Amino acid sequence: MRMALMGGSLRPDSLNARLLGHLAAELEGRGQEVAAFTGAALRLPLYEDGAAPSPEARALHAALQAAEGLLIVSPEYNAGIPGHLKNAVDWLSTMGPSPWQGLPVLLCAASPGAFGGARGLVAWRATLANMGALAYPAAITVPHADQQLDECGAPTEPRTAASVKKTLDGFLALVARLRPQP
Ligand SMILES: Cc1cc2nc3c(=O)[nH]c(=O)nc-3n(C[C@H](O)[C@H](O)[C@H](O)COP(=O)(O)O)c2cc1C
Repeated sequence: MRMALMGGSLRPDSLNARLLGHLAAELEGRGQEVAAFTGAALRLPLYEDGAAPSPEARALHAALQAAEGLLIVSPEYNAGIPGHLKNAVDWLSTMGPSPWQGLPVLLCAASPGAFGGARGLVAWRATLANMGALAYPAAITVPHADQQLDECGAPTEPRTAASVKKTLDGFLALVARLRPQP
């Protein structure tokens, strides 16, 4: 299946970008085709009515249009969605055809805090519902991620690591079920 991933902050040492790298590798290990968007690929101009989408916005749109499932790996900023990711979502929501309608999305977050970015994912669910995307009920969160992610982005805490695998497998099963039948 074709899976897209977007996320991480814009800082070079982003914990969420590191987690995204691990999740992309896990998906590839499960035989999935992966397109990952992080860092400069998400540094889009601020959305402005009437402005043409940048090449980066068009590339993201094409990838989401082709994807059968999307993983969003989002930092939590003030219990909400970081500006660069919300800006990307806003661009994509203005570009037809909508890549969001009916798209299954797995929400993921990493934070040095004890809640692993879970509060920010509440805001994501409202935004995704507004666009007609299908947010998977379970989510991946990594608390204390500054201490509990290895250099490849794999969670080192055994329960979190097991939960990542279980959630990924459950999400892939949903995506397979939603695929158009030949
Ligand atoms: C503006 C701002 C707001 C933040 N708000 C929260 C927050 O509400 N909850 C939280 O757990 N961490 C918060 N943090 C800390 C981030 O989780 C932390 O910086 C994290 O490393 C960001 O993700 P990254 O490593 O992918 O850049 C905030 C950080 C910034 C810069």
